[in-house]
Amino acid sequence: MGAHALQWLNLALRWAHVITGVAWIGTSFYFNWLNSRMHPPERAEPGVAGELWSVHGGGFYRVVKYTVAPERLPRTLHWFKWEAYATWLTGVALLVLVYYVGARAYLIDAQVAALGPAAAIAIGVGTLVVAWLVYDGLCRTPLAERPGLFAALLLALGTALALGLTRVFSARAAYMHVGAALGTIMAANVLMVIIPAQREMVAAMTAGRDPDAARGRQAALRSLHNNYFTLPVLFIMVSAHYPETFAHRWNWLILAGLSVVGVATRHWFNLRNQGRRNAWLLPAATLGMIALAVVTAPRTTPGASGSGDGATFAEVRVVVARRCAPCHSSAPTNSAFPTAPKGVLLDTPDQIQSAAPRMLAVAVESQTMPLGNLTGMTSEERELLGQWIRSGARLR
Ligand code: HEC
Repeated sequence: MGAHALQWLNLALRWAHVITGVAWIGTSFYFNWLNSRMHPPERAEPGVAGELWSVHGGGFYRVVKYTVAPERLPRTLHWFKWEAYATWLTGVALLVLVYYVGARAYLIDAQVAALGPAAAIAIGVGTLVVAWLVYDGLCRTPLAERPGLFAALLLALGTALALGLTRVFSARAAYMHVGAALGTIMAANVLMVIIPAQREMVAAMTAGRDPDAARGRQAALRSLHNNYFTLPVLFIMVSAHYPETFAHRWNWLILAGLSVVGVATRHWFNLRNQGRRNAWLLPAATLGMIALAVVTAPRTTPGASGSGDGATFAEVRVVVARRCAPCHSSAPTNSAFPTAPKGVLLDTPDQIQSAAPRMLAVAVESQTMPLGNLTGMTSEERELLGQWIRSGARLR
């Protein structure tokens, strides 16, 4: 398939992934909110545990929650599962297209580990399977009944996974695989635990027996976990835009920090929905973000910011033409990119000068560019570029 067609396939899959993801997370947030905001019905009804009134889009709605189940099942009962499955399927298709088909550019970083595409892809797929098996096993131990301890354990395991993956993959692919592992756990929770438990509930009702309470408890636990996983996973979905995070030396710790911020934010909303005010969680999460920004700020090495370093624009221009312009040009010579990636053009002096701050971030500090270092940029060239930009990015 041509590069142009691949880009459109990428767009179609990403769009579908965002659409289905919004639908899934939207229903997860909505039902979580609904559950917390239910209150005993104004007029008692047999078998009814709670009710909720709302107004939306020009209509009034009254939702009723049954203690166990209604006496008679309605003809149409809506299930919520295709949002989850479709999000996972489109996500995996995107992972394959970007990171496995493009393994040499996106998955493998020869400076991290000299892996061949087959080995790297096997590690990637294995990660998703093993993550689910470990998590599912842990959920069936008594540990899962101690929320605080279990959350700490999952954070430790997730951080260990991130640390391990940053030692074998490109930093960006390492982050994406942590996200894919969490997404796989979430979708498998729906497929393997939550939906079967609901089927059992319906079957028990039809047969006139009591539903299996243990399965109901597992389903509730997994549903709760999914709710807390959403915000860390959402960050990882957009993380490729932020080399300040994934390409930092402490990338695995930064991911742990951002996950804590996400989970704390989710927890604040959950408490609030239950009518339990919590004054400090949200400010603490905000402070956490600020602290992460401060501690990860790049340190300018002494002397690097001075002028008269001798890096001239003439030298920089040669480096950019050789290392960057094969992709970042109005007529790229790299056949994988029919148009300049992200619209970043580095042909003319003006273009190079105005892109200087961004170039400093991606080619000198985080070194995520050139992509997969496919053009073989040397550390001397990075230093030269850094000197020129730090001393003012002057054209003469
Ligand atoms: C092999 C092709 C290739 C080469 C060579 C390359 N880039 Fe890129 N560049 C990309 C791709 C692909 C993206 C988009 C990455 C993404 O998907 O987010 C990108 C994105 C960027 C961005 C935007 C990043 C952002 O987060 O806004 C900048 C700036 C950039 N490159 C600068 C450079 C510089 C400077 C060089 C040379 C030192 C370079 N690139 C070499 C392929 C390349």
